[in-house]
Amino acid sequence: MYAYIFELLIMSETILIIGACGQIGVALTERLRAIYGNQQVIASDIREGSAALMESGPFEIVDATNKENIQEVVEKYGVTDVYLMAAMLSATAEKYPLKGWDLNMTSLLAVLELAKEKLIKKVYWPSSMAVFGSTSPKMNTPQQTVMEPSTVYGISKVAGEHWCNYYHDKYGVDVRSIRYPGIISWKTLPGGGTTDYAVDIYFEALKKGSFECFLKEDARLPMMYMEDAIDATVKIMQAAPEEIKVRTSYNLAAISFTPKEISEEIKKYVPEFEMSYAPDFRQDIADSWPDIIDDTQARKDWGWRHEYDLSAMTKDIIENLKANKDLWS
Ligand code: SER
Repeated sequence: MYAYIFELLIMSETILIIGACGQIGVALTERLRAIYGNQQVIASDIREGSAALMESGPFEIVDATNKENIQEVVEKYGVTDVYLMAAMLSATAEKYPLKGWDLNMTSLLAVLELAKEKLIKKVYWPSSMAVFGSTSPKMNTPQQTVMEPSTVYGISKVAGEHWCNYYHDKYGVDVRSIRYPGIISWKTLPGGGTTDYAVDIYFEALKKGSFECFLKEDARLPMMYMEDAIDATVKIMQAAPEEIKVRTSYNLAAISFTPKEISEEIKKYVPEFEMSYAPDFRQDIADSWPDIIDDTQARKDWGWRHEYDLSAMTKDIIENLKANKDLWS
């Protein structure tokens, strides 16, 4: 009986994904459509996306910084849950600081306001390990610690976390958030991040047999395979409200590796693979971020656990890229 009621509750969700054509948005749209049904998940972005994404369910052009524009779509479909995935990432936001701040903050406040006005019931907003800075502990970075970010992206994420917490405490908004590490995918490429090298490397290894890395060989960073990132996102949104004890954002971890370690793993599949290093401004960003993050609280509060380590992830990516040569050749 309870299982049946739970099922009904789940089926009653109508989801809007803002930024559905981005690296995480594409995978999230696919997964949420598989769970809740194609018609229940409205994909939206500032630009059109792949035919697969636009044809597998409703699609709308939405400017994430325009509250009226979001509201129109919310009202048109009777949206209950919004996943706000549009953002400017760390490296690009260093080039366009005010644009980065504007996109990342205006979009969040627009969605939080819609939730405050009770037009939507639940909000998902991703934060990042970029909230930490060089004064935060690098090893096993705790859930609560010093947060003095060095990037505009990190500043926008710390501020955003506090806005989430504020809207929850003052207005009862059910907003949930995760501090993603670097997310590794093969279907859709990331853009403008400091961790993007760990995606590009697979494509270049198969295409050219070599890769020039913009980070140093020992730049260890927290990372996660897309499958795990999507699992975590779905899990935190499906958790009962009382399980969510952190309303800023949860630390989340899976694997941590260096450019040298990922290159060694790739060599198991591409023996002639050669890696060279030409660190640029992104090395400074990487230097300010944690090596390994402590995510005990997410594991305890809502049962998070990851599946993929570096070798399982590499095997899966190489197999998938070999089966989808059109993506890189
Ligand atoms: N992957 C992001 C970046 O590199 C971190 O959240 O900007």
